[in-house]
Amino acid sequence: MPKVHIGLIGCGTVGAGVARILLHNQDVLEARVGAELNLKSVADLDIETDRGVAFAPGVLTTDAMAVVNDPQIDIIVEMIGGETFAKDVILAAVANGKPVVTANKALLAKHGDGIFAAASEKGVDVAFEASIGGCMPIVKTLRESLVGDRVRSMVGILNGTCNYILSKITDEGIPIETALADAQQNGYAETDPTLDVEGIDAAHKLTLLSSLAFGMQLDFDSLYIEGIQGISPMDIEYATAFGYRIKLLAISKLRQNGVEARIHPAMIPVGDLLSNVNGSLNAIMIHADAVGDMLLYGHGAGMMPTASAVVGDIVDIARNLMNRSPGRVPLLGYQTENVRRIPIIAIDDIVLHYYIRFSALDRPGVLSRISGVLGNYGISIQSVHQKGRKTNGAVPLVMLTHRSREADIKAALAEIQQMAVIKERPVLIRIEEKNSVD
Ligand code: HSE
Repeated sequence: MPKVHIGLIGCGTVGAGVARILLHNQDVLEARVGAELNLKSVADLDIETDRGVAFAPGVLTTDAMAVVNDPQIDIIVEMIGGETFAKDVILAAVANGKPVVTANKALLAKHGDGIFAAASEKGVDVAFEASIGGCMPIVKTLRESLVGDRVRSMVGILNGTCNYILSKITDEGIPIETALADAQQNGYAETDPTLDVEGIDAAHKLTLLSSLAFGMQLDFDSLYIEGIQGISPMDIEYATAFGYRIKLLAISKLRQNGVEARIHPAMIPVGDLLSNVNGSLNAIMIHADAVGDMLLYGHGAGMMPTASAVVGDIVDIARNLMNRSPGRVPLLGYQTENVRRIPIIAIDDIVLHYYIRFSALDRPGVLSRISGVLGNYGISIQSVHQKGRKTNGAVPLVMLTHRSREADIKAALAEIQQMAVIKERPVLIRIEEKNSVD
């Protein structure tokens, strides 16, 4: 039986999971690939810690570049993470004509242009399914399955840590810090969990997805990113009372004048499929012209689900190598010459329903002054709610608006915030009424 030799760089949680699948599921992999997937070398700075995998003698090494430069190795699997040495490893592998599998969303979202260009020039594959949504086959869906469709929109829950935190606060009312500590213990969170909580991890993923779906150049810097730091248990309680759940959404919609690409917490109706995606699970709803709506759902993080996606990519590449067809599928789904610059629409130009919570003194005339300012900016109020206890003499005053332009909402709030009767910065949460293009 032919052999395909694999070099694994980085044997942390996911790397060890990849090794485990390659060794434990060897029979089924051979039956599917028609070749032995041989884990020839595994490089890590720490080769003493027991990873729960029985490596053959001589497989472990601390010298990553020796693996990358080993002429016998056919595929490099980069599981180091980060944007420095991981980038060197990938570019060196590509320069050596070796295809690469990676889960490194931050690196690809920010430096993917150079990496994909180098790989295209060399005619080698770079596969990155595990970088978005763990085990959910979203890259394959966009890059291969939906090639006959025009994708119109994607709305996803792409960060397991934030979803876990929001679910815990909703169900158990525990503080955000406790929920984050739980998520870290379960291995969902990034090494630096601010990347999760501030929405940056989801933005890395949405950058890649928007490019795959719409054939647009990677444009991480233009995305609107807002994390879950400002979400309080009180807003979650109000959301529940109004029939919504709060989720950190990653949204990308193709419009006539560009792409709406934004990450932020949003209220979604409880009947919506995405509102029932809880804990660390991920999901993405895709709306495309031929298929209509479709939903992918699964574990977006964790050792074995992520490792499963990595092994899927290894098999794709091994099949391409055996059939001498590397580069058969363009790396970002579109032929390089057809990848275009599509502008990302400014968040101020988005039109949505909004939830606004003021902390206002409970006095006659306050409501009419606030609604007067909103009216001056053309914002129509759908409903007003005042209940709850006074804190520092102020009460929560909640308004839901009809569809309004975000720039108008912000200008009105800036003016209202100046009033002496307003005691805190108003809270603004966007409401997504449905998951497809409206
Ligand atoms: N930190 C990520 C998450 C891991 O919480 O979803 C998967 O990318």
